[in-house]
Amino acid sequence: MNTKNKKKYYITTPIYYPSGAWHIGHCYTTVACDAIARFKRMQGYEVFYLTGTDEHGQKILKNATEKGITPIEFVNPLVENIKELWSVLDISYDGFIRTTDEFHKKAVQNIFTRLYEKGDIYKSVYKGKYCAPCETFLTETQLKDGNCPDCNREVNDAEEEAYFFRLSKYGEQIKKHLSETDFLVPKARANEMIKFIEAGLEDLAVTRTSFDWGVKVPFDEKHVIYVWIDALSNYITALGHFGKENGECSVMCEPRDKKTNNNTTLHSPLSTLQFWPADLHMMAKEITRFHAIIWPAILLSLELSLPKQIYSHGWILFDGGKMSKSVGNVVDPFILSERYSADALRYFLLSELSYGQDSNYSSEQFLTKVNSDLVNDLGNLTKRTLSMVKQYFKGKVKIGKETEHCKDFIEKVNALNGQVDEKIKDNDVAKAISTIFSLISHSNKYIDLTAPWALNKEGKFDLLSSVLFNLLEAIRVSSTLLKPFLTKTPSRIFEAIKIKEPTDFKKALHNPKGSYNVGTNEAVMLFPRLDIKKELEELASLAE
Ligand code: MSP
Repeated sequence: MNTKNKKKYYITTPIYYPSGAWHIGHCYTTVACDAIARFKRMQGYEVFYLTGTDEHGQKILKNATEKGITPIEFVNPLVENIKELWSVLDISYDGFIRTTDEFHKKAVQNIFTRLYEKGDIYKSVYKGKYCAPCETFLTETQLKDGNCPDCNREVNDAEEEAYFFRLSKYGEQIKKHLSETDFLVPKARANEMIKFIEAGLEDLAVTRTSFDWGVKVPFDEKHVIYVWIDALSNYITALGHFGKENGECSVMCEPRDKKTNNNTTLHSPLSTLQFWPADLHMMAKEITRFHAIIWPAILLSLELSLPKQIYSHGWILFDGGKMSKSVGNVVDPFILSERYSADALRYFLLSELSYGQDSNYSSEQFLTKVNSDLVNDLGNLTKRTLSMVKQYFKGKVKIGKETEHCKDFIEKVNALNGQVDEKIKDNDVAKAISTIFSLISHSNKYIDLTAPWALNKEGKFDLLSSVLFNLLEAIRVSSTLLKPFLTKTPSRIFEAIKIKEPTDFKKALHNPKGSYNVGTNEAVMLFPRLDIKKELEELASLAE
C-alpha cells in the first residue's frame, strides 16, 4: 500500500493494569478509540492505533506473591485474556505494547538517562505519603481530606531515598498551554488541572527501592523506575523512540483484514517514528493529571513535541466493578458479547457515555437500548424497506420523481457525513453515533409519512420507486458511516442490499447510486428482539 502521501493519525488508549478480571469499563476507552481509528482510516488517514498493558508496580507484585507465583506468571494469562477480549470486540489496534517488553524496558532506561543528563532528575530523600492502590507518592497538599485525591483511599507515611523529576520547572509552561489551547478536553478538566498547578507543583519521586518489579535505573540498580515514567513512555517507545538506533518498532501487528481495510496497515519500521506527536490520548478522568501535567513535563524535558490532544472521558459506574446478582448486572464483556453480539456491546458503550460525563450501567438499560435502537430502529428500517422493494418491484428500484419531502429527506441523508465528522473531530463518539441513529429513526418516520402502501394502491409507481430508492440510499449512507462503530452489522446490511462493502468514505459517499437490485430473498434479521424480563433473569443467574 502506498502510504507516502497519506495524512497520519496516532491514537492511544491507556495501557491497562493486568490486575484482575477485565470488565466493560476497560472496554469503553478501547472501543471508543477503535471507532475513531476506523473512522479516520475510512477518511483516508494512515492510522496507528496503540493499546497495551502496564505490568510493573507494587500492586501487581503483591497480587502475584499472594498467589505464590512470579509477577510475569501472574500477568501473562491476563494479557492473553485482554488480547482475546479485543479480538472478540473487533478492536483494530495496530500495536500492542507490554511494559515488560524488552525493547520498552531498554527505551525507558534511555529516557531516564536522558532526563538525568539534562539535570531534570536528581537524587534526594522522599518523605511523604504513598497511595498503594494508585502507586502514587503524594504530598500533604495533594491529599483530599487526608486521603488519596484520585481514589479517596487511605495513604501511608513513606520515607526513602529516591530520584526526583523536576516537575515544578515545567508548571508555568504547561499551565499556559492548558489555558491557551484545546490540549485537554473537556475544558472543565483543563480548568481543574490549571487549579492543580496553581496550588503549587512539587517535584515528583520517580523511583523506589522497596520493591524490584519494574525497570531498573541503569546507573543505580537498587532503584526501580516508578510506574508513571515507565507507563507514560509507552506512547513513544512503541513507535521506536529511544529504542534501537534505526528506530525499529517492535509492537506492530500484522494487518488482519486487508480486504475491508478495517484493521491495520503494514507500516514500514521507520515510518512509525513519524507518528509522534500523538493526535489523541484518550483515558478516563482519574488519570488525567498524569497525562495532562506529568507527561507533557517529561516530553518538554526530552525536547519532544507534545501530543495534540488529550480527551478525558467519564466513568461507567457500577457496583464497585463487581457483577451484582441482586440487580442482575453483568459487567463481563465476554458474556455480553457472546449472548448479544459484540456489535450490541459496542453500540451500548459508544452511545451510553455522553461527552465527558459518567453514566450508570444496568443490564436493564443495556437490554432496553438493544431493543429500541438496534431491533426497532435499525432492524425494522432494513426489514421494512427491503420487503417493500421486493414486494412492489421484485427487488429493483431506481432514482425517480421527487416531491418536496423527498428532497428534504435526501438533503438530510447527504448532510450526515459532515455532521458525523464534526462530532468525531470533537471526540464525541456518543453524538456521532446518535446522529447516525437519528437519520435511521427519521427514515422510519419517512416511511410513515410517504405511506408506500398507499402509493402502491393509488398506482403512483414512479413516486413509490423514488421513495424506496431514497430509503435504500439512507440505509447505504448510514451503514457506511456506521462501519467504524459496529463492525459486523453493516456488512450484513450491504450484503442484503446487494452492494459492495465500502472501505472509503469519499468514494462511497460522493457517488450516489442510480439504482438498486436487492433480489428477492427473505429479509435479514439483524438483531433478534429480546424478552427483557427473561433476559434479566438469565443475567441474574450468570452474575452469581
Ligand atoms: N495503567 C494505568 C494507565 C497508564 S497509561 C500510561 C491505569 N490502568 S487501568 O487498568 O486502571 O485503566 C484505567 C483506564 O481504564 C481508565 O482511564 C479508562 O480509560 C478505563 N476504564 C477502566 N474502568 C472504567 C470505567 N468504569 N469507565 C470508563 N473507563 C474505565 O490506570
